[in-house]
Amino acid sequence: MGYAVDTRCIHGKGHKTVDGNNAISFPIYQTASFSHLTPGHNPNGFDYSRESNPTRAYLEETISSLEHAYDSIAFASGMAAIATAFEFFKSGDHIILGEDLYGGVVRLISQISTKNGYETDYVETSDLDALRTAIKPNTKAIYFETPTNPMMHVTDIKAVAEIAHSVGALVIVDNTFMTPYFQNPILEGADIVIQSGTKYLCGHNDTVCGFLSSANEELAERFRLLSKTTGATLGPFESWLCLRGLKTLALRMERHKSNAEVIRNWLLTRKDVEKVYYAGSGMISFAVKSAEHAVEILKNIKLITFAESLGGTESLLTYPYCQTHPDVPAEQKEKLGITDKLLRLSVGIENPDDIIADLEQAFGSVV
Ligand SMILES: Cc1ncc(COP(=O)(O)O)c(C=O)c1O
Repeated sequence: MGYAVDTRCIHGKGHKTVDGNNAISFPIYQTASFSHLTPGHNPNGFDYSRESNPTRAYLEETISSLEHAYDSIAFASGMAAIATAFEFFKSGDHIILGEDLYGGVVRLISQISTKNGYETDYVETSDLDALRTAIKPNTKAIYFETPTNPMMHVTDIKAVAEIAHSVGALVIVDNTFMTPYFQNPILEGADIVIQSGTKYLCGHNDTVCGFLSSANEELAERFRLLSKTTGATLGPFESWLCLRGLKTLALRMERHKSNAEVIRNWLLTRKDVEKVYYAGSGMISFAVKSAEHAVEILKNIKLITFAESLGGTESLLTYPYCQTHPDVPAEQKEKLGITDKLLRLSVGIENPDDIIADLEQAFGSVV
């Protein structure tokens, strides 16, 4: 793993030529199946694309190299990766969940995973005393985002790993907001890293994908069995799109972050902005003074798009209250600050002056 992270975004583990024809761009192996020479003998190790495919394998190697992982699996979405992670657990297990999570995960736990019979508790994982108190004899995992979506809470991964490992529990970190360019949870002690690759990794608001990276062989084998059996793995074309997106990850992340810092500073000057939540990368949440103003801004933006998702080249403004977090119980949303006055801005890589000009006209005259 000798190369720097920006080089690994482009070259993965450092292959000079990647196929028999010396293509610079890794080919799209658009095939469902692979021929065998004799029973049980396939020299390249590929049988069937649900289980493995060369384009996906090359992407997975690149992600492992970026995440410092033993192995990574590319899924058809971030939620497919997360659902596979939760398939690991069984009836009687206890899982601690970060208090502020992407709403789809809350829906998975409350409406789908209940059939698996494991117990869950939501805990503010940045509060280490609260975390210690929540540990039970049957605690098998601590699952959290850092920073969180949308409230930007930051958790000390190393400290959580110490607590979790002292009781034999796994640490699962959703690294979507930071990406492996800014943060490497496995180096901090995480056992499993999740990514919604739909966001910064693919980076162009054109592809849905997800990743599950394992820190060791034992976990990797278990997740390989789960992914090939449940089958929500990523297709060859989307794998190629993600490989293409990754080549510019370093440049994009630097620009997302520098743009976000300029816009955060502008938001801090506004008297009609109640609070700004920012923890690095290109994501900012902010509360305005009324729900009416929030809706007005969403209606008025011209360059920025009112849409779900994040992490792409285009700036998107999201209304978490009803777009990304509708399945989070009302009292939990209130407690966290996910109110009808909160907006989440995924700062794109446009010229920051144009983004600010658009916000300025959308906010209206009150300053
Ligand atoms: C932090 C986070 N994790 C996971 C997901 C789910 O990813 P996907 O939409 O690719 O299924 C999202 C989606 O918005 C997210 O924001």
